Amino acid sequence: MEKETFYITTAIDYVNGLPHIGHAYEKIASDVIARHFKQRGKDVFFLTGSDEHGIKIQKTAQDLGISPKEHCDKTSSEFKKAWKKADIDYNRYIRTTDTDHEKLVQWAFEELLKRGDIYKSSYTGLYCNGCEAFLSPRELDENGFCPIHKKKPQEVKEENYFFKLSKYKDAIAEHIKKNPKFILPKSRENEILNQLKDIEDISVSRSKNSVNWSIDVLSDSNQGIYVWIDALSNYITGVGFLEDKEKFMKYWPCDVHVIGKDILKFHSIYWIGFLMALGIELPKTIFAHGWITIDETKMSKSLGNVISIDTLMENFNLENADPIRYFLLTTASFGKDGNYSDEDFKSKVNADLANNLGNLLNRTLSMLVKYFDGKISFSGNSYIDKELLALCQNTVREVERKFDYYEITEAIEAIIHLVDITNKYVNDRAPWTLAKTDLQACEKVLYNVLEVMKYTSILLYPVIPNISQKIYNQLGFNGQIKDIQLKDLENLNLKIGQIATKESIKPVFLRLDSEIAQDKKKK
Ligand code: MSP
Repeated sequence: MEKETFYITTAIDYVNGLPHIGHAYEKIASDVIARHFKQRGKDVFFLTGSDEHGIKIQKTAQDLGISPKEHCDKTSSEFKKAWKKADIDYNRYIRTTDTDHEKLVQWAFEELLKRGDIYKSSYTGLYCNGCEAFLSPRELDENGFCPIHKKKPQEVKEENYFFKLSKYKDAIAEHIKKNPKFILPKSRENEILNQLKDIEDISVSRSKNSVNWSIDVLSDSNQGIYVWIDALSNYITGVGFLEDKEKFMKYWPCDVHVIGKDILKFHSIYWIGFLMALGIELPKTIFAHGWITIDETKMSKSLGNVISIDTLMENFNLENADPIRYFLLTTASFGKDGNYSDEDFKSKVNADLANNLGNLLNRTLSMLVKYFDGKISFSGNSYIDKELLALCQNTVREVERKFDYYEITEAIEAIIHLVDITNKYVNDRAPWTLAKTDLQACEKVLYNVLEVMKYTSILLYPVIPNISQKIYNQLGFNGQIKDIQLKDLENLNLKIGQIATKESIKPVFLRLDSEIAQDKKKK
């Protein structure tokens, strides 16, 4: 039987600046979702990439005195490097300058022209370079500024091509209302239904005189295709809409587009209008996450508070990005705004990963070595504490339920709750005392804790793949934790015999040493 598929995408990043932890947050979250669904036996395709056309990139390259393509090549390779460091395991990194994508965008534009959904008209409008979009006066704040970029939009008069978005607004509203999982978190649905009321036709091209770094309109060489139709179509190019129909049929419709709340309108209105007009099936879910601030302030080059994965790994002397992945996904419920500060980062990962999780494994294995020479003498369900086992199994189901709605933070909380209860289980039973009075009872306690650690490492693997692999190995398992599926958990028995020695027990996560970190920063 063919595996069920799961197609997940992220927003594609503008390459006018370097990658920061805001971009990383979205890619990490998507990577966690992708890894989780692989654990559920799905054939996952994970697409990410960069958005390389438009006025912002044209200007950045101009300021640097290099060609836009040269600039995009350099910057997109920085994004790829950052995603490697963050262990983002994507299937394709798409660039909107890729040939298959440019061909697709030109095809889509001509197709919409042919179908009568794109027409030419003269236009005067207020253009925000930050949004790469025309804004209606109603969308501006009280000073007449773009509410997101806090800048006055430019008045632009041009002859452009327009997409008949207004024709689709009722159908879009109906689709949103009929499909409760279409916009997640659900709390964002109303905001989009309200915005839909004001939707007018949108400009989908710019004159080549004002923006020349764009894909040409095939049938009109004075016009370039404006960024949103170009950017959004990456989601169908990425799975072979033009060049590999079989692949496209396999993965489309997309299961979830993961994007930031600032671009929800473009995804849940513009993109859906384009797809409806092209007669292409609609994606199942659009998930809008919140924004990450630094010390409660928006990250910006001018404030000099932009933090990257690289800087954090350097500052805290990290051997992998697991603690950053863990922190970002737990700093706020996925979907809400979150904040990064060095203090919160240190205290959260030290408390959860070092004290709660790492110490539990460490002290259990140490007792196994001390009292039982590192050996396990039994295996199978008969020694398992029924309550603890039920809790493990319920946690698996709970985690799956949470992931069905992309509630990653709540899924992690459920796993940490299991670790908390197990810590209490150890403290209540005091195996160090049992070791003196009832060795078999002591052994059972240790065995049960190691069973929980098996569940925990596999459940947390999507979030902290490196630490989980270490736990898995210290439990005596060989091989790759990524190959283990959630359905295998119940039949995956701990090995009978030696699983640990004094030398094999190592902390799976070292507390972030604030002094070392501070020292490095000063340098
Ligand atoms: N190129 C467009 C997206 C096109 S998708 C077809 C774009 N690029 S962006 O570089 O500005 O942003 C890329 C993604 O990163 C967006 O989803 C955006 O919300 C997200 N983030 C950028 N800064 C962020 C934070 N500080 N925090 C969290 N996410 C943020 O928009």
